[in-house]
Amino acid sequence: MMRRGLLASTLLVVAVPAMAQHRERVEVWRDPNCGCCSAWVAHLRRDGFAVEDRVVASVAPIRRLLGTPADLLSCHAARVGGFALEGHVPALAIRRLLGERPIGIVGLAVPAMPIGSPGMEVPGQPPETYDVIGWRADGTHAPFMRFNGSEPA
Ligand code: CU
Ligand code: CU
Repeated sequence: MMRRGLLASTLLVVAVPAMAQHRERVEVWRDPNCGCCSAWVAHLRRDGFAVEDRVVASVAPIRRLLGTPADLLSCHAARVGGFALEGHVPALAIRRLLGERPIGIVGLAVPAMPIGSPGMEVPGQPPETYDVIGWRADGTHAPFMRFNGSEPA
């Protein structure tokens, strides 16, 4: 028992510095032919997220698992820190979600694919203004944050 206790406290000491440099993990599910999905993954990686990019034949079963409301759909699904994501959600909105953990919100979505949202940049086309939507477990939702391109608006 003594030895086990000593081992446990040694592991705890070792774990603390490892956690300090922990990069938030994002699991992404996307279609194999989705170019804008890969561009969004690159946006998250540039922001410091550790992305697990999972190519699947259909994202629909994952969305059912995540409880993504049918009226908020975009091109890919993701999960981070216990929250669900749908579409081209800017890293800044994800950071705010993880920092504030607003009560009742279970996921963030950018429905459709607004031009200029991260991963949806089109050369020569001005970015659109759009809302990042927060949804609740019962499927109701409300605007969480407004963006123009990848900048808060
Ligand atoms: Cu897309
Ligand atoms: Cu996508």
